[in-house]
Amino acid sequence: MLKVGLIGVGGIANSHMPGWRASADAELVAGCDVNADTLTAWGDKNEIATGRRYSCPADLINNASIDIVDICVPSGHHAELAIAALDAGKHVLCEKPLASSADQIQQLIRARDRSGKLLMTAQNMRFDPLNQAAKQEVAAGRLGTIYHARGWWLRRGEVPTSPGFIYQRNSGGGPCIDLGVHHLDLMLWLMGHPRAVSVSGTAGLHLANQPGAFSSWGGENIPGDIDVEDFAAGFIRFDNGVTLILEVSWMLHHPQEETGLWLYGTRAGLQLPAARIFQNNNEAKVRYDLGFSAPESPHTSHAAECIAFARAVAHHEPSPVPAEESLQVQLILDSLYASQQSGREVRLD
Ligand SMILES: NC(=O)c1ccc[n+]([C@@H]2O[C@H](COP(=O)([O-])OP(=O)(O)OC[C@H]3O[C@@H](n4cnc5c(N)ncnc54)[C@H](O)[C@@H]3O)[C@@H](O)[C@H]2O)c1
Repeated sequence: MLKVGLIGVGGIANSHMPGWRASADAELVAGCDVNADTLTAWGDKNEIATGRRYSCPADLINNASIDIVDICVPSGHHAELAIAALDAGKHVLCEKPLASSADQIQQLIRARDRSGKLLMTAQNMRFDPLNQAAKQEVAAGRLGTIYHARGWWLRRGEVPTSPGFIYQRNSGGGPCIDLGVHHLDLMLWLMGHPRAVSVSGTAGLHLANQPGAFSSWGGENIPGDIDVEDFAAGFIRFDNGVTLILEVSWMLHHPQEETGLWLYGTRAGLQLPAARIFQNNNEAKVRYDLGFSAPESPHTSHAAECIAFARAVAHHEPSPVPAEESLQVQLILDSLYASQQSGREVRLD
């Protein structure tokens, strides 16, 4: 069994744990967190030996018995820890976004190539059975030629108020990089990874910094010095002529949280998460509204991504989510922020 050490045992780490428990190839043996109380509570709950609980990431990374490092710390620390782990000869599974900028992802790719180890971004939505069924529909040509995509994830007042999310230095951005990275990755994966050629976007802080602004996540006041955007939107063109619209927000005057994704093709349109396919029969003058489904899975998407990574490492297979694909997503997000700065479209070709 491969031995796994987890760095950052806060929120999302708990969603990885069932995957490590269910994996036939790996087992979790160590954890690290800079917060002593969090580390103790997590270690006790998961029965991790006290000698395998670390307050310093370097101590876990340099433990020779560990094969895989699972990184679940705030996004601004992903690159430094992932590079250190790769340089120490570990395979790395890292939460999304893989890093806070495309430059950092390029450094990560170089570290991965130096080490010869596997590096995977934890894009859990790819492991959702319904999204995998959608991928099969697209791959089978059901939609014809896709010419437009839309993805949105809009919340009313659900700002993650922890420092790891709301300060630029820790996260690299707000909902654009937090939620946008999920939808962009999913849409690019579904469409077979076309290359972006231009991005026009907006990203701004409009509501979350107003006096008394509050978040329904814990009913907490949002710290007034939040310095990342609360809303972002972008229009992206790809080298194959496809266009894409992305809209994301943690806080919007809007009825409730709403998330969705559409792919529009010459034969049909596909809607997620509703799992609907819409098409016409021009000869019969009939419009069809069809559904598709996925087999039940015993695992959540977070657990499935951990299982898939351990399997890939154990069987010497390629990374299930290669860093090159995350680099393309991050180039778009970086360009969206740059477009906000310049007030112009950013060209990537
Ligand atoms: N895939 C998803 O659906 C999903 C959902 C939530 C969060 N995330 C990602 O997971 C990451 C963590 O988010 P979270 O919600 O779990 O945050 P969190 O704040 O709940 O947990 C992060 C933990 O990391 C610890 N930490 C911070 N810096 C550290 C360091 N240098 N070394 C060791 N420990 C450190 C903190 O003390 C905390 O316990 C982020 O990158 C976020 O984007 C992904």
